[in-house]
Amino acid sequence: MSARFLVTTPIPDPGLPLLEEAGTVTVLPAPPDHARLTQLCASGDYDVVLTQLRDRVDAELLAAAKLRGVSNYAVGVNNIDVAAATGRGILVGNTPGVLTDATADVALALILATARRVVEADRMVRQGRFTGWEPQLLLGHDVTGAVLGLAGFGRIARATARRALAFGMTVLFAPRPPAHREVTEEELGEFAGRVAQVSWEDLVARSDYLSLHVPLTVSTHHLVDTDVLARMKPSAVLINTARGPVVDETALVTALRNGTIAAAGLDVYEHEPALAAGLAELDNTVLLPHIGSATVPVRAEMARLAALNAIAIAAGRTPPHLVNPEALR
Ligand code: GLV
Ligand code: GLV
Repeated sequence: MSARFLVTTPIPDPGLPLLEEAGTVTVLPAPPDHARLTQLCASGDYDVVLTQLRDRVDAELLAAAKLRGVSNYAVGVNNIDVAAATGRGILVGNTPGVLTDATADVALALILATARRVVEADRMVRQGRFTGWEPQLLLGHDVTGAVLGLAGFGRIARATARRALAFGMTVLFAPRPPAHREVTEEELGEFAGRVAQVSWEDLVARSDYLSLHVPLTVSTHHLVDTDVLARMKPSAVLINTARGPVVDETALVTALRNGTIAAAGLDVYEHEPALAAGLAELDNTVLLPHIGSATVPVRAEMARLAALNAIAIAAGRTPPHLVNPEALR
């Protein structure tokens, strides 16, 4: 029987043409709710489901599912209960690597936008409040010489470090907060002697810009909470291009309001797409709608990888990007 694919949301080319060459493809016209997705996955009509971050693939869905695999159109897989999938021999694929530079670009965009108050300034011009050059108009901060603290030192953190070094920032990192794991000089590679690793506590205390690059797991949930915010510099800026629940967003709103920290640049939210009460009213925030990987070539490449993962899984082969190799046993 030819492979049968369920695609929960239309994806860019070449995703669908690749899947269509390999089998029959059902594309849902609108994102399904959890009950509908569970029903479709349990129907036995599909070999692989190609999911989005907003599709919650939890233990309940997986217990009912008659699937060989789930191919996630993202690098992060926090929307999927990977342990439950592994327990049922369901393979999970993701799209690493291709979105690293694009996401690091957005981290830099948020650093520059918060430092130089770009969004506030744009608003002023559009609202007709720009009345001419002024010595004290919208003064911001220099990023050159400022300390960038990277929480995490994976691909995206390293790509962010590379950019920040070019801007003359001092780069510190804490490898796997909150736990500590020393990265060897050899693992540092091109960064040896150019970035310094510190404890999570030091990173929090010393950063002018604290940028989050950790996956969302049980140990990184609310990594940045009231206590951490209180230990940051009052002049510090929090940057989040990782996952919303890594930050206690209600605590962040309080901290931004009270001047506990100076500003925040966010691409992700704790209860996406909802925002914590008060967040959108604050001038010292730059808020983006989860566009870290949103470039034309990157989204096409993600579509290609997600399709290749799905095709391999349906054919009983190991997909190019398998999150849970343990499920093969
Ligand atoms: C996007 O957030 C991703 O995980 O790919
Ligand atoms: C994600 O791809 C990361 O490793 O940072």
